[in-house]
Amino acid sequence: MFNEQRQEEILKVLREQGRVSVEELSKSLKVSSSTIRRDLEEMEGKGLLRRTHGGAIKEKKREAEGMKIFLDTANIEEIKKATDWGLIDGVTTNPSSIVKEGKNLEALTKEITNIIDGPISVEPVATEAGKIVSEAEELAKLYKNIIVKIPITPEGLKAVKILSKGGIKTGVTLVFSSSQALLAAKAGATYCFPFAGRLDDIGQEGMDMVKDIVQVYKNYGFKTEVIVASIRSPLQVEKAALSGAGGVTIPFSVLEKLIRHPLTDEGVEKFLADWKKISK
Ligand code: G3P
Repeated sequence: MFNEQRQEEILKVLREQGRVSVEELSKSLKVSSSTIRRDLEEMEGKGLLRRTHGGAIKEKKREAEGMKIFLDTANIEEIKKATDWGLIDGVTTNPSSIVKEGKNLEALTKEITNIIDGPISVEPVATEAGKIVSEAEELAKLYKNIIVKIPITPEGLKAVKILSKGGIKTGVTLVFSSSQALLAAKAGATYCFPFAGRLDDIGQEGMDMVKDIVQVYKNYGFKTEVIVASIRSPLQVEKAALSGAGGVTIPFSVLEKLIRHPLTDEGVEKFLADWKKISK
């Protein structure tokens, strides 16, 4: 029996039983234990199974999680529309977007949580770790899925560490370099928000930073998700998707632009015009 056939047989057993021992395989496939061990090692290298003491188990397939799309706004009408389209996973706000709506932070956050059942990020305005933590704890009481967004400063990182240990989800914001992102992950942040557009504004390639962050997190197996922020165009969304980032947070105007294409509009118009001809 060739190696390929033998390994196919091993996979078949794993599919049926979930686990198998070297001894069992060596008996059923009539080869030595060392041959089976070599097979298992090779197959583990290909991500086909996971070796255990004396055998192997089926490799769990990573669930496809998809790319997260957050809406970067505190505007209720925009959140309602985007939720209605079924396209967004959550909402990110910041002190500026809250002020723009002229409403109280808690009331507005509650209003948003009544519309969408995903993660909603809100930002404490305190700057000292202890105070950030107390503000964050109050915000976290508003809704089960609150993400406390904290700017990257020494005090901010201290707060992130305390909050993540206490089970409160955090997002480190105003990130402009992969080294800052590395620290955010070390502190235990749930999300990291690199501001791509603001780097572009000062003549740097924001997406290069994003690619570096994605690579750094991959290198060390950090669980922190990269959500690209400060996005101003559909092209940036495409680049973020290609970089392998966990998602983006985008203004409503960009969401609309992502959907539309002049050739789609032209095509729809032509289909309808042609249809009208026969229905006359
Ligand atoms: O969430 C904040 C961030 O997305 C802000 O973007 O356009 O003000 O740089 P921008």
